[in-house]
Amino acid sequence: MTTATTAVAPTPEAATRPRRRRHLLSSADLSLPEIREILDTAAEMHEVQRRDVKKLPTLRGRTVVNLFFEDSTRTRSSFEIAGKWLSADVINVSGKGSSTSKGESLRDTVLTVAAMGVDALVIRHGASGAAHQVSQWVDAHVVNAGDGMHEHPTQALLDAYTMERRLGSLEGRHVAIVGDLTHSRVVRSNLITLGRLGARVTLVAPPTLMPAGIGAWSQSDGFALSHDLDEVLPGVDVVMMLRVQRERMSGGFFPTPREYTVGYGLTRDRLRTLVAANPEAVICHPGPMNRGLEIAADAADAAQSLILEQVSAGVAVRMSVLYHLLAGSDERPGHDHEGGES
Ligand code: NCD
Repeated sequence: MTTATTAVAPTPEAATRPRRRRHLLSSADLSLPEIREILDTAAEMHEVQRRDVKKLPTLRGRTVVNLFFEDSTRTRSSFEIAGKWLSADVINVSGKGSSTSKGESLRDTVLTVAAMGVDALVIRHGASGAAHQVSQWVDAHVVNAGDGMHEHPTQALLDAYTMERRLGSLEGRHVAIVGDLTHSRVVRSNLITLGRLGARVTLVAPPTLMPAGIGAWSQSDGFALSHDLDEVLPGVDVVMMLRVQRERMSGGFFPTPREYTVGYGLTRDRLRTLVAANPEAVICHPGPMNRGLEIAADAADAAQSLILEQVSAGVAVRMSVLYHLLAGSDERPGHDHEGGES
């Protein structure tokens, strides 16, 4: 992560504020005060969503390019809406419709887009580390909107925002993240962000869908691991179900979809157990959902489900992220006054 300073002489209160970030590549980039600042601004941005005229002048004259090399509904459209509500010009470039499908390299595509004078690149790519790589090639601010099986920092921020709105502080709250952990970038980012906010996390998956080397992660970050959803479920405040990512699976990670659901699905029976044990417990899912596989329709549509609230929060949190990266930085990216580094 790169930091940059503004051209304005720092005021006493600016000195206590976190330094302005150049990029958002990993959840690990954000300190607790920075997470708090983004979530607090998101709460203000959320108010805009309730207005008839949903426009702030904040990013007028700035250009944001969404560069998506993987499919997306929520993330791409929410970044687009977020940029537009802040009055930025937003352009969408998708891998399928771009010259990468004619063999152009990622570097050439990115340099081509950046050469048009864009201020921020929001990138989703199937390769882990792609966003970081892109940030080394361009002067523009870079936001990681999901890189392979690595990270998805804005998803973790919007998840935390949604949980906090319902539960208050996450300090000491117990969050279970359940399902296809091996292929999930959401889990890595959530572990970091939830950990910084003081939540206790238990990861639940069948052995075949636990990431290799997770034992080492577990020791370093102090979260728990389980293969038994029924044991964990009654003690949680939040159960976050993750999608079974069949497009990233090459072999058999579980015998049949039915067996997966029996072991690890949030079924109607498990919903009953969850609510009986803790009537305030809530359900999250980053989407898209495989209804009937990792989550039953009853659970997805239950009063405890925050899934659509996550979508709504996604716009507010992404407005906040774009605001914190772009607004008020008078210097053009690449012309840091104190030589921002990566
Ligand atoms: C996730 C993603 O793409 O990483 N979804 C999302 O961004 N809303 C999770 C998934 O694809 O299952």
